[in-house]
Amino acid sequence: MKKRILIIGASGQIGTELTARLRKLYGNHKVVATDIRESDSTIVSEGPFEILDAMDSEAIQDVVIQYEITEIYLMAAMLSATAEKFPMKAWNLNMTSLFNVLQLAKENKIKKVFWPSSIAVFGPTTPPINTPQNTIMEPSTVYGISKQAGERWCEYYFNRYGVDVRSIRYPGLISYTTQPGGGTTDYAVDIYHKALKHKKYISFLSAKTTLPMMYMDDAIKATIGIMEAPKESIKIRNSYNLSAMSFNPEEVSESIKKHIPEFEIDYKLDFRQKIADTWPQSINDDQARKDWGWKHKFSLDEMTQIMLDNLR
Ligand code: SER
Repeated sequence: MKKRILIIGASGQIGTELTARLRKLYGNHKVVATDIRESDSTIVSEGPFEILDAMDSEAIQDVVIQYEITEIYLMAAMLSATAEKFPMKAWNLNMTSLFNVLQLAKENKIKKVFWPSSIAVFGPTTPPINTPQNTIMEPSTVYGISKQAGERWCEYYFNRYGVDVRSIRYPGLISYTTQPGGGTTDYAVDIYHKALKHKKYISFLSAKTTLPMMYMDDAIKATIGIMEAPKESIKIRNSYNLSAMSFNPEEVSESIKKHIPEFEIDYKLDFRQKIADTWPQSINDDQARKDWGWKHKFSLDEMTQIMLDNLR
C-alpha cells in the first residue's frame, strides 16, 4: 500500500516542522497538512492543506477517505499551562481527538498512528533524576492526566484491537520556526527571541528549575524514526521515554551570554513554576535507544548557536 500521511495540528510548533520534513522525505502531495486554523506558513502553499477540527470525527474520516490516508500524526493538543486555565476543554480536546484517530485505526481505515505523550505524564512522586521508563506516575496537571490516560488507551487499543499506535514522551521542545503556545517549557524558546530583541529576559521559572529539553530537529528525527521502525521493534505501546539534554533558565542564559555578553535574566515566577516543580529533571531513555535505535544530536550550546543565528 502506498504511504499517505495526514497531520492533524500541522500549524503548531511541532506540526509545522514535521510537515516540512515528511514532505521532503515522501513528496509534497503525499502529506496532507490540516489544522483548525489557516496559517501563513509554507505548509499551506507547498502541499495539500485542509481546515480540520480534531474533535470532529466525521470530518477526519472524510479527509482520510478523500486522500486515501494510511497513517496519521495527531499533533493537536492543549498544552500544560493553558490546560490549567481550561481543564474541561483541555480534557475534551486531548482525549476526543485521540479516540477519533484510534477509532479510525481500529476500523482499519488507517494503518498507523503517531500520538505524542510528554514528560508531563510524570508527577511529584516520580523519581525526578534519570526517570525510568516504568515508574510511579501520578501526574497532577490536567495536561499530564490527559497524557497518562492517553497512554493507557494507546496500549489498550494495541492489545485489544491490534492498532499500530506509536508514541514518545516529548521533553520541552525548542525551535525557531514556530513559537509554542501554552506550555510550561515555552520560556526556553521565548528567551532567545527576547535575548536578540531586548538583551533581557524575565523568566517565569526559577533559575534552578531544571527540565528535560530537546532541539526540534532531534524531536522530528525521533518522531519519524519511531514511525519508520519495524513493527516488531516497538516493544512499548504506551509511550517511550526520550531524552537529549536537561537545563535550567540560568544555564540557558549562560549559554546565550557566550554570544550576547550583555544579556541579562531576571525572575518573576508565576503559576507555571508549580507545574514545572512536579516534572522530572532528567529522563532515562535506554529503552528507546535499544528498541528502535534512537540517538540525539544537539546539545545546549549547539542549539543556542542555531537559535540565535536563525532568529537574527
Ligand atoms: N512542553 C510541554 C508543556 O510545557 C510539555 O509537554 O506543556
